[in-house]
Amino acid sequence: MKPLFLLDPEITYLNHGSFGACPEPIFADYQYWQRELEKEPVQFITKRLPQLMQQSRQALADYICCDADDVYFVPNPTTAINTIMRNLDLSPGDEILSTDNEYGAMDRTWNFYCRKSGAKYVRQPISMPVISKEKLIEEFWKGYNSNTKVVFLNQISSATALIFPVKEICDRAQQLGLITIVDGAHVPGHIELDINALDPDFYTGTLHKWMLAPKGSSFLYVKKEFQDRIDPLIVSWGYDSESPGKSRFIDYHEFQGTRDMSAFLTTPAVVRFLEEHNWTDKSMSSKSLILQNYKRFCDLLKTTPLCPVSSEFLGQMCSVPVNTQKPIELKELLYSKYKIEVPITKLNGRFFLRISCQSYNSQQDIDTLEKAIIDILNTTDLIQ
Ligand SMILES: Cc1ncc(COP(=O)(O)O)c(C=O)c1O
Repeated sequence: MKPLFLLDPEITYLNHGSFGACPEPIFADYQYWQRELEKEPVQFITKRLPQLMQQSRQALADYICCDADDVYFVPNPTTAINTIMRNLDLSPGDEILSTDNEYGAMDRTWNFYCRKSGAKYVRQPISMPVISKEKLIEEFWKGYNSNTKVVFLNQISSATALIFPVKEICDRAQQLGLITIVDGAHVPGHIELDINALDPDFYTGTLHKWMLAPKGSSFLYVKKEFQDRIDPLIVSWGYDSESPGKSRFIDYHEFQGTRDMSAFLTTPAVVRFLEEHNWTDKSMSSKSLILQNYKRFCDLLKTTPLCPVSSEFLGQMCSVPVNTQKPIELKELLYSKYKIEVPITKLNGRFFLRISCQSYNSQQDIDTLEKAIIDILNTTDLIQ
């Protein structure tokens, strides 16, 4: 599959997780929309765009299983979580229950909110290695008390690359009357996503990571009962619209003045591409590579997996704990000397070599990484 992507063939690319990668046919569709816009900006933006955006929202909604009027496009999950944050009305002492495995930008967003509101952001510690789903859930709920008003968690963590049991946690949160906010940045196109079945109050995900869309395409889903309470992050023509669409929620949030919507308009082409290339099967092959190689890398680095090596916790990524005092130098060396793009992630003072597998990767890429690590172990003091 690698020739289908725009990636540099000289680089062993094992970091799909950070920013995704876009195949040529989808990128061509992206450029097609940009050219359509430039051909006749007035006609395109004022006449064609509303209908085209509706089609894109529908294609997305069908893919993630929700109503097309309950979801709108945003550039990234940070924008989505900031929109929710700006609309929460917590009192001093109220608590947002989360985990100590969340994405840094989201931790910062909640810290900001709590400084302003007097609410408390609870990063509930999750023991590593994770032993079982039940144990993880039990640990999570130890952070609950009568002040807890909101549950916020990622479905697949960034630094540790673990799948979290969000369904079980959302179900219990609902029984307790809590607001549920899920950061599913890594989920669409990676593991199954059925928003209707999961039934969160808010859910954000990206299309530009595992769905292969061009950069800057993500979404925010908001359950109907919350939609009237959510002000737009940016107020523009869609507010008190002179030509209202059928959903006020979409009008309020989608229109933000002059902007290039081309990345969003690729959604029908994105979904078609995934179907035409049997992406579920391709994803399964990448997941098998992760399951086959995780323990092997942990053994090489004399560390242990962060979870049972199974599809319950692992998708197309795994994070191998690495003992290093020099994570930046290690990452730089892997790139400059061995031409391998792979991140060293950091969480709670620990470092991880996070390996991503996408359809353009093969066992050969993973073997290239293994050889480089062996060489680094033999020739440097970067890894203890
Ligand atoms: C859990 C999680 N949330 C959010 C994001 C991305 O958010 P943004 O693109 O807004 O920085 C990532 C990216 O890796 C992530 O892993």
